[in-house]
Amino acid sequence: MSRRYNVAVVGATGAVGEEIFRVLEESEFPTGEILPLASARSAGATIEYRGREFRVEELTQSVFEGRDIDIAFFSAGGSVSAHYAKYAVEAGAVVIDNTSHFRMEPDIPLVVPEINPQDIELWRESGIIANPNCSTIQMVLALKPLYDLYGGKIRRVDVSTYQAVSGAGKSGMEELVKQMQDFFAFRLDESEHRAFMHQIALNVIPQIDKPQPNGYTKEEMKMVNETNKIMHSDIAVSATCVRVPVLRSHSEALTITFDDDISVDVEKCRLALSEFPDVEVMDELEKAIYPMPIVATDTDTTFVGRIRKDIFADNILHLWVVADQVRVGAATNAVRIAQRWIELEDL
Ligand code: A2P
Repeated sequence: MSRRYNVAVVGATGAVGEEIFRVLEESEFPTGEILPLASARSAGATIEYRGREFRVEELTQSVFEGRDIDIAFFSAGGSVSAHYAKYAVEAGAVVIDNTSHFRMEPDIPLVVPEINPQDIELWRESGIIANPNCSTIQMVLALKPLYDLYGGKIRRVDVSTYQAVSGAGKSGMEELVKQMQDFFAFRLDESEHRAFMHQIALNVIPQIDKPQPNGYTKEEMKMVNETNKIMHSDIAVSATCVRVPVLRSHSEALTITFDDDISVDVEKCRLALSEFPDVEVMDELEKAIYPMPIVATDTDTTFVGRIRKDIFADNILHLWVVADQVRVGAATNAVRIAQRWIELEDL
């Protein structure tokens, strides 16, 4: 029988943790033992995986000892990864970390498997592979085929995001639903907000994560820095990240500026995008066909549409990218990393 891998999921009761189990099931990942971990609050709860029930255990420093875990997915926030990832590594697991904590560390690979699978090799340095920010993943999946098509001659990308509340986990989704219920009960003005800085129902919030000294937010700077680490590029990126009252799946408007000597050919761009793995072009404006969150949700595909050349400059292309942030932007990317890691281990 071929080898099976023992898998721990830290944050097993969260939005991304639950989705990791779903993606593992669907992808027929060769799992052996399953260890769901969360905070003391959830210890004793059960999760169902492939028709079997598994008890959620509390994450502690010693929980990995003697469990023979091969792969530990971490999705319980940066401070949890900062404290506990090392114990999983010490116990012999590779950590695939969904938080921003390790992403920019030089000896830790930051991987989107369709783009830089070769970087996974670097996992041996630290035992950790970082999963990029959700908005970054779907953006680089749309950028990479165009970057390759024009020989790396992308100079600048300006991006505005329209990010779903699922990015703030289950509490973000619950807060939007509760506020909508309060709106229909005529008591929205009494509704509380904890997951977001402001009311999110019937609103948009132009701030995701903490302010930075340069006037950008931490989420925006993740998109700037992570893009170039994943693509091994030197592209000027400017991001405006906005939370919108959508339950799930992020949208992004991208303006891509190529070098001055490039005259963008929209048809060639469309072809390059449609041939790229896990990317689908959905672009028939006359028929009102373009990607939207309700199209992307529950899929593993990054959808691209509204592809058009700038009205004033030959070297500028505009497009619209939508993907399910919980899957493409987190769980699916993490499981794809694990699949590639297994291939390396088997060599
Ligand atoms: P719990 O359900 O016990 O709070 P989401 O991103 O949907 O908010 O989910 C966060 C996940 O991270 C949950 O599974 C949550 O578990 C888990 N978590 C949060 N804080 C800790 C912690 N200190 N130790 C372990 N797991 C944690």
